[in-house]
Amino acid sequence: MALIDLVLLKSRLGDCSGRFDVDALDECDSTSSELARRAERGAPAGSVIVADRQTAGRGRRGRAWLSAPADSLTFSLLWRFEGSPARLSGLSLAVGVALARGLRRLGIAGAGLKWPNDVLLRLGDAHGKLAGILVELSSDRRGTQAIIGIGINLRPPNGDLAQAVAGLSQAASLPERHELLAVLLAELAGAMTLFDERGFAAFRAEWDDCNVWRGQAVQILAEGQAPLLGSCLGADADGALLLHTANGIERIFSGDVSLRPA
Ligand code: BTN
Repeated sequence: MALIDLVLLKSRLGDCSGRFDVDALDECDSTSSELARRAERGAPAGSVIVADRQTAGRGRRGRAWLSAPADSLTFSLLWRFEGSPARLSGLSLAVGVALARGLRRLGIAGAGLKWPNDVLLRLGDAHGKLAGILVELSSDRRGTQAIIGIGINLRPPNGDLAQAVAGLSQAASLPERHELLAVLLAELAGAMTLFDERGFAAFRAEWDDCNVWRGQAVQILAEGQAPLLGSCLGADADGALLLHTANGIERIFSGDVSLRPA
């Protein structure tokens, strides 16, 4: 039996449960791939797949996403928007804001955002990656569909990882799995509705407030390019990162941001 009980989840979702059509699986290749296949077959907006185990979990930039069933929460949400993907710039940053709001609602202090869409947890003087977001868009004549994939560490993953990691167990108290999923889904639905009406403009100030590296010296690493050094200013109206470099303010559209070694 899957770790998520749909009856319990429905009660945690309360009034909001009608907005979602949730399926809980023991295992699948990737919740986002499975949801994309179901979307092809006509799954409605608000469809959610949550899985204990992913055999081919996917991260940003073609990376794998590895997670242990009891120590993580992995799910994907399908949402549909009118118009072309051009309207959706900044969507993945808005998803980050929704997660940060949800974590705050659950009493978790110290969660912040790293461009473009990592959720970090403050651990003393440092930060570890708490959650990853993968937003995949596709469009047709009816509009644009977003598959919003989210992986959250309940406990910090083991292993030799390229980046510092964190788990919710390191915050004040670990939320119950159903409560966590229900709060995050409710925040995501609210945020996606607001995004549809007003775009990233409605989230930009809050994203900047959550930006853990605001005003700090960072480097942007992009494949095949020399690191770009600068001071992290925030996000612009399209969700691009504004970096104050030796050549002035540059807009960054892709790459990995890290703190510059002292
Ligand atoms: C990242 O690289 O930080 C994004 C990771 C996103 C992982 C989640 S887990 C649920 C969903 N299914 C996937 O295969 N990927 C996303």
